[in-house]
Amino acid sequence: MSTSTTPTGPQAHTPPTDGPVPAALPAIPSPGDTEPEVPRYAPQWLQLREPADAAARAHDLLDPLRIRLANRSGRSGDLVVHDLGCGTGSMGRWLAPLLDGAQHWIMHDRDPYLLHFATVGAPKAAADGSRVTVTTQRGDIGRLTPDALAGASLVTASALLDVLTADQTETFAEACVGAGCPALLTLSVVGRVDLTPAHPLDQEITEAFNAHQRRGDLLGPDAVHAACEVFGRLGASVRVHPSPWRLGAEQAELTGEWLRGWVGAAVEQRPELAAPAEMYLQARLADCAAGRLRVVVHHSDVLVLPQPTGGAG
Ligand SMILES: C[S@@+](CC[C@H](N)C(=O)[O-])C[C@H]1O[C@@H](n2cnc3c(N)ncnc32)[C@H](O)[C@@H]1O
Repeated sequence: MSTSTTPTGPQAHTPPTDGPVPAALPAIPSPGDTEPEVPRYAPQWLQLREPADAAARAHDLLDPLRIRLANRSGRSGDLVVHDLGCGTGSMGRWLAPLLDGAQHWIMHDRDPYLLHFATVGAPKAAADGSRVTVTTQRGDIGRLTPDALAGASLVTASALLDVLTADQTETFAEACVGAGCPALLTLSVVGRVDLTPAHPLDQEITEAFNAHQRRGDLLGPDAVHAACEVFGRLGASVRVHPSPWRLGAEQAELTGEWLRGWVGAAVEQRPELAAPAEMYLQARLADCAAGRLRVVVHHSDVLVLPQPTGGAG
């Protein structure tokens, strides 16, 4: 497993996923090692989006997940949850208090700086008051092996699928299915954004942003479809549920940062849009500041239930 980071440079103001690393937020201190190709995520951005993420996540997938966890073999021990691409650990803070029973969360990320936040903000108690413990694992999900998930009761990932390549998704899916445990994969962008009131440039900026999300081999808005296809091919049953961000006047700070990153990525993808996009951004920020802008950023959550292997899953 390897780790690398890019504390500065073009990626620092580029939305590396469904959300930006806001240019307005403080620079990230370098942990020491650098590799230009690997985007980094500002903890401030992940913290800013955490309430909107929590409000968006699909609760309808929780009951089938709880049933599967209640029926798992070897269920006498703690639930062992691997959260892949954990960032600052928002998935654990949301999910751990919604599941019964003692839990041990293993938080995976390639960025040690974010893992530090995941440790500091770790959830402490399950829904029924049982203890929750957390450890971290630094590494590259693109190199995940089924062995790394041996004994897992559940794999989770949030806002991750759309920043993976098809090859990484295949590796990830094989590891999950190999471990025979369910996977809850939340908040993947699907390439649709609704802005109210409408503006003539909405569609063009959306298309340029989506093209940016697909840069290189990244799946971007195709991630959910690709994941469903690969998990299905591996024999797992897959359920998809919408999980949109619904941003209004009460989320103005998040909406403003999201707009800056969204438009910035569109311009990075299509530099000829720079002048009209700047006017568009200023108009949208003014709408946002005046409390008259509504944004729906569409995402999907996916619950994967592989055939049990007879192990801990
Ligand atoms: C958009 S952030 C989401 C973080 C967190 N799951 C959340 O919902 O707030 C994506 C996270 O995945 C991590 N990540 C992306 N690609 C990765 C890879 N190949 N291996 C390990 N971590 C990765 C990033 O470092 C980042 O923390």
